[in-house]
Amino acid sequence: MEWTYTLDEIKSAAAAFWKTQAGKKVFAFYGQMGAGKTTFVIALCEAKGVSSTVSSPTFSIINDYDCGLETIYHMDLYRLKDETEAQRAGVEDALYSGNFCLVEWPEKAPGIFPEDTVYVSIDVVDEKTRRLKINGI
Ligand SMILES: Nc1ncnc2c1ncn2[C@@H]1O[C@H](COP(=O)(O)OP(=O)(O)OP(=O)(O)O)[C@@H](O)[C@H]1O
Ligand SMILES: [Mg+2]
Repeated sequence: MEWTYTLDEIKSAAAAFWKTQAGKKVFAFYGQMGAGKTTFVIALCEAKGVSSTVSSPTFSIINDYDCGLETIYHMDLYRLKDETEAQRAGVEDALYSGNFCLVEWPEKAPGIFPEDTVYVSIDVVDEKTRRLKINGI
């Protein structure tokens, strides 16, 4: 499954994404620096009704956002070295908490992801356009 979108279209891309992912909780986002992982994660949170300002978790590894009665964890593993560090930072607990988890830089700790993780990759098409693929990596 794949979508190509610009920033103008990201809202509808995020809505379309959730429509196809009923029951899924953990999402791992691959893509080079600046590919648009954080930008798409924010769009996904907004599509789920997160009202608090969504900020990039660059300086915290785990951010949690309220979404009605649910919590969305937005994680960025970029600063971690491996699975052990991820465990220590509480990433594994979050991944198995049953809450939504949207994770950037999963390649830092690939071994701790649950079996039913949805793998997403984002590629730069041009300055304004990104291509997102699900389970296609
Ligand atoms: N269609 C698009 N989707 C997402 N971002 C876009 C798009 N077009 C342009 N951009 C720009 O690309 C940049 C993406 O930055 P973003 O922080 O989301 O990347 P990232 O993949 O999270 O990078 P990092 O690995 O550093 O965390 C932003 O400046 C954003 O405005
Ligand atoms: Mg990012």
